[in-house]
Amino acid sequence: MDDLRKRYEELKREINYHNYRYYVLNDPVISDAEYDRLMAELRRIEEAHPDWVTPDSPTQRVGAPPAEGFAKLRHPAPILSLANAFNRADLDAWYQRLLRLDERVRKAAFVVEPKLDGLTVVLHYRNGVFVQGATRGDGEVGEDITANLRTVRALPLRIPVAADAPPPPPYVVVRGEAIMLKRDFEELNRRLEAAGEKTFANPRNAAAGSLRQLNPAVTASRPLTLQTYAIVAAEGETPAAERETLERLRAWGFPVVEYHFCPDLDCVWQVYEDFAARRDDLPYEIDGVVVKIDDLALQKSLGVVGKDPRGAIAIKFPAQVVSTKLLDIRVNVGRTGVLTPYAVLEPVEIGGVVVERATLHNFDYIREKDIRIGDRVWVKRAGDVIPYIIGPVVEARTGEEKPYEPPKVCPSCGEPVVHPEGEVAYYCVNAACPAQRVRNIEHFVSRGAMDIEGLGEKIVQQLVDAGLVEDAADLYYLRKEDLLPLEGFAEKKAENLLRAIEASKNRPLARLIIALGIRGVGEVVAQLLAAHYPDLDALSRTTVEELQQIEGIGPVVAENIVAWFRAPHNRKMLEKLRRAGVWPRREAKAEQAEAMPLADKTFVITGTLSRPRNEVKAFIQAHGGKVTNSVSRKTDYLVVGENPGSKLAKAQALGVPTISEEELYAIVKSG
Ligand code: IVH
Repeated sequence: MDDLRKRYEELKREINYHNYRYYVLNDPVISDAEYDRLMAELRRIEEAHPDWVTPDSPTQRVGAPPAEGFAKLRHPAPILSLANAFNRADLDAWYQRLLRLDERVRKAAFVVEPKLDGLTVVLHYRNGVFVQGATRGDGEVGEDITANLRTVRALPLRIPVAADAPPPPPYVVVRGEAIMLKRDFEELNRRLEAAGEKTFANPRNAAAGSLRQLNPAVTASRPLTLQTYAIVAAEGETPAAERETLERLRAWGFPVVEYHFCPDLDCVWQVYEDFAARRDDLPYEIDGVVVKIDDLALQKSLGVVGKDPRGAIAIKFPAQVVSTKLLDIRVNVGRTGVLTPYAVLEPVEIGGVVVERATLHNFDYIREKDIRIGDRVWVKRAGDVIPYIIGPVVEARTGEEKPYEPPKVCPSCGEPVVHPEGEVAYYCVNAACPAQRVRNIEHFVSRGAMDIEGLGEKIVQQLVDAGLVEDAADLYYLRKEDLLPLEGFAEKKAENLLRAIEASKNRPLARLIIALGIRGVGEVVAQLLAAHYPDLDALSRTTVEELQQIEGIGPVVAENIVAWFRAPHNRKMLEKLRRAGVWPRREAKAEQAEAMPLADKTFVITGTLSRPRNEVKAFIQAHGGKVTNSVSRKTDYLVVGENPGSKLAKAQALGVPTISEEELYAIVKSG
């Protein structure tokens, strides 16, 4: 029993550490499969001993029951806001004001950080364990969102995460920003849209909406992450400077904002300009930078005006919001038949880019914001996210504006539109709808699917309009004579296209499965399916029950898959693909094993080898093996060189087999 208990504590520590490697450092040291094995072992122990489960267990990141509403949580110190500066003159004026208040400011240095566009979170740790977390609320009292915050993988459930870090004080409260990365935000919106659910206007709203969810299971399914930047309160010693605070937070295992140390204002301004230039390339959205006096005692002694500390200021980027006239609302038909409204605008420049179209999200959004055709509207462009309409300028109305009604028929095929009860989405359910056809073919040929080069949106439209293709399978029957009469097609272009189509016949099974465009079947599910079924024949015969046996496939996706293979028009397309020779089979397991003699084996290396350790590591990885840094029960082999270290003794104690470098090469050679 003692051993099991020890193993349990060890597992918790180990998994929390791997979460940190993965979500905070972006540098995992074990594979997903190994991680899953650790989690499974932890779950088994917890099932047998539910009374052992503690709040810092990684299993507690999901599954808390939905809350009735959020309880209130009083902050241990006011969660302050920031005053704004918009230009160099504002920044200089701030500095001069401070100088008049306190001569010591002349010697002060600054720390400059990005101003993250997310949701402030306040995180309480007792004896290193995350015990409570809140939103900012009014700065005095926030909402208790502990269960939701636990699902954020970048948030350490226990600090310090690494063994060699300084111990935290018995009680410490950390402030940070919960954010959603731009690419995760876009992916989430695609997922919501495909499910007929409401999409979010921007990453900030997505982060806030996901955290202020009464059901933590929903939060858990959202790709939230975190960056921290302050210690709000603590019992015991805390760093005296901002820079040290950030380093301390990092050492404890928190994800910390990027920061720059500046001795003077010229440097601060330079950092601001650098961030402005990098803004679109950053993985997250920022709306400016935050400048803080590094000396925290000085910062504090400067006091507070209202809710804004004097010793820190935000320098905001120029607004990327402008107003223009909404000329029309049009509707796009997606691959799955979802209708999405978009705005046609009087062209307007925002941050150096001319914008003529903007998204309106969905029909509810238009109604809720009371957006009318002819309105003057606010348009926002944020980074590389698609511009969107914030809302109408109500004061500018003339009375000529026309309220908007969602379409009753599909703008592409004219069939009646379906609006399922309880869903946000409106659908065109006509499988022969030309717009859906075009979107489906676009998806089929796209980079992540069959990757047919040179087959863009315009050409797909041309092919469909000319009646040459009805579905993607028809692409494989195109002849040069078909293409030459099309506008813009000369001999060479036609040949190139046909060659690209031909080349796509060799894509692996998973790519073809993605290309089919089954709802909910993206890269991950496609890989799972390709691993379980040798070809599309086997997959098309499967059942919902059988699919659900596969870990990672839920009931909804299972239903979608079976329904897809049942639909007559899809069967027709499959037959055409088969006849055209587009019928990849999964590589036999035996072939894979031959190429990967070390598959699923974990190695640790100790001592000096005949080649640099990195080379040996790469050799093991190239043959399917994994290399980790420390010996554990999970280690399959310890490779022992000259002058081995303590790992040898540990391996012997655990009964892990040891091999020489020559033996390693021999194993690979003999397959
Ligand atoms: S410091 C005294 N640093 O910006 C410290 N705030 O109005 C005050 N924010 O909602 C805040 N990134 O959540 C600070 N690197 C950063 C920040 C940051 C984003 C948010 C903060 C608040 C707003 C300030």
